[in-house]
Amino acid sequence: MKTQEKYLQELKQWLYDTADVPLEEMSSFFANRLDSYEEHMSAWEKSYKLFAEEIPPECQKILDLGCGTGLELDKIWQRKPDVEVTGVDLFKYDFENERWDAVISFESFHHFLPERKKELYSKIYGSVKMGGVFILGDYIACCDEEEELLRDAYLKRRNQSDIPDDCFVHFDIPLTMEHEKALLEEAGFTVEKILDEDAAIIVCRKGGK
Ligand SMILES: C[S@@+](CC[C@H](N)C(=O)[O-])C[C@H]1O[C@@H](n2cnc3c(N)ncnc32)[C@H](O)[C@@H]1O
Repeated sequence: MKTQEKYLQELKQWLYDTADVPLEEMSSFFANRLDSYEEHMSAWEKSYKLFAEEIPPECQKILDLGCGTGLELDKIWQRKPDVEVTGVDLFKYDFENERWDAVISFESFHHFLPERKKELYSKIYGSVKMGGVFILGDYIACCDEEEELLRDAYLKRRNQSDIPDDCFVHFDIPLTMEHEKALLEEAGFTVEKILDEDAAIIVCRKGGK
């Protein structure tokens, strides 16, 4: 297994090597990689299974944010064939109050800065029914240094190319588990479970069971 020191060294080298590569707009990034996308995402096979296992048995209605082609849903429907899922991607979405038994998101929110996540988590909290869950599967930074390196590079590259604030670009800006958990709790959720496997899986509840 790679040590954290080696990982950070390689990350710094990659940031240096790619410093002049322009950022790609989010939907073009995925559209340009359609042919290899599902194979690339198959690396998460084990995490998709663990993620699906966290869906509460009584769950009927799920909102999936950043669903892409919905790879996480295969495993969920294998376990619960009659669950109803609304998938949203690259969204302008009106969150309705207390509508969902579960809101889920897999490998999508690491493209948001903490300020945006804060707003989003608060909207998600409002849209989950009391006793319902928000299950987040995502890329988590291994330490403050990784979080800072990526955020600094992201802001610098946006700035250099004069990218407007409302334009989503593809660049990973994960938070550490400590910062991610703090944002979720600030929104009102109780973090009930953390699985720190390939993708971290965080199960949060609104109110008690
Ligand atoms: C790596 S894919 C994961 C898709 C799916 N959850 C899966 O695991 O197969 C990330 C998805 O997040 C979406 N996404 C990224 N940033 C987003 C944003 N700011 N708003 C909404 N969707 C976003 C992308 O369009 C993409 O479909």
